[in-house]
Amino acid sequence: MDQYIIKGGVPLKGEVTISGAKNAALGILAAAIMSDEDILIENLPDVKDINVMLEAISEIGAKVDRIDRHTVRISGKDIEEISVDDEYIRRIRASYYFIGALLGKYRHARVPLPGGCNIGSRPIDQHIKGFKALGAEVRIENGTVTADAERLRAAHIYFDVVSVGATINVMMAAVMAEGRTIIENAAKEPHIVDVANFLNSMGADIRGAGTDTIRIRGVERLHGTEYAIIPDQIEAGTFMCMAAATRGDVLIKNVIPKHLEAITAKLIEMGNEVEEYDEAVRVIGAERQRHTDIKTLPYPGFPTDMQPQMAVALSLSEGTSMVTESIFENRFKYVDELSRMGGNIKVEGNVAVVDGIEHFSGAPVSAPDLRAGAALVIAGLAAEGYTTVDEIGYIQRGYENFEDKISALGGLIELVSSDREASRFKLRVVG
Ligand code: UD1
Repeated sequence: MDQYIIKGGVPLKGEVTISGAKNAALGILAAAIMSDEDILIENLPDVKDINVMLEAISEIGAKVDRIDRHTVRISGKDIEEISVDDEYIRRIRASYYFIGALLGKYRHARVPLPGGCNIGSRPIDQHIKGFKALGAEVRIENGTVTADAERLRAAHIYFDVVSVGATINVMMAAVMAEGRTIIENAAKEPHIVDVANFLNSMGADIRGAGTDTIRIRGVERLHGTEYAIIPDQIEAGTFMCMAAATRGDVLIKNVIPKHLEAITAKLIEMGNEVEEYDEAVRVIGAERQRHTDIKTLPYPGFPTDMQPQMAVALSLSEGTSMVTESIFENRFKYVDELSRMGGNIKVEGNVAVVDGIEHFSGAPVSAPDLRAGAALVIAGLAAEGYTTVDEIGYIQRGYENFEDKISALGGLIELVSSDREASRFKLRVVG
């Protein structure tokens, strides 16, 4: 029964270094199998989702050589299986990137339909639309997607919804298609640019990633490369909200401040101070934050993956804030947990009305998904008294050394596996 136990009320202070971006890494790892030469990837985050992805890659026959915690060498030369095992897919949703990668390289892929975080219905119709446009025949039978193509031919693809996953997946399938593919209404998230830069470093010819039109000229083959993944925008944003909610003062290092602008702007509107440096941001929490409204949107709008963490900070602000979730319909499941801590949030449809409170009070809560789990930890750190957070496996999917990074900032948190360990923590933090 691993859980976090937290004694709240300590303003976090000091420096934290952000790890590589999980969501960029998931795309990059899948793309890495598209070459027969060695690919060296650095700044890989050491989190569960990435480790499962690496297992899936070696399961299909690619060589995976973990050089250290954050560096891996992959060779896709000896891939024998174009069929990915169901076990991995159930554990990480992004394993659907194998469809684009295997289809692009071998013209054939067999991948079970993905599971993943339960934050709403997550169709893959846009991915399939893209693969079909490139000439693949795509069938879904018994929960498995099979994509086959004699030849992949460039196409002009217009996505009906802005989708991170579909943009990356179709981009991968198109890099070795014949001719010039154009993807319109593409997603613009930083990790799309990172996957495109990675593929280009392997010899692909992708232009316009980061805008809503991506142009891809097909190449015959992809070669080896060495590549360092960008810092994790969402991990950085989580620590920014943590600094604000605990009225702390934290220097968040190894970030690209440009990627954080939507979060920075909101924290400033709320009365916090945010200083930007070349590769760091410093957040100094206000004594009492002010209310504001947020609406999640595709990049460069406010990220849906930061919605729960920001809702916690808004709960501790003066006045009433509106949080509108426009990407996923089921992303307010943490609200009931926050109520147990004294939060005052009402959800109507895709809007949460957040009435500010003076402080949370510690309570036993359970993480409903990855980002909501991180948000509950923030609430616990800002709360009076003790909070325990269950189901922390979700949090470990996407945050490297979460409790260690928080402890280094003075936060009183520990991962415990028994009541005895929890009691020992309480004795320690009281003494
Ligand atoms: C990615 C991120 C996730 C983030 C989300 C939005 C990864 C591994 N995960 O998820 O953390 O919350 O972007 O920033 O990078 N949609 C369709 N049809 C499709 C695909 C998507 O209707 O074929 C809809 C979805 O239901 C959702 C919206 O489009 O409402 C955005 O989803 P998408 O950007 O695809 O999210 P993911 O790639 O799954």
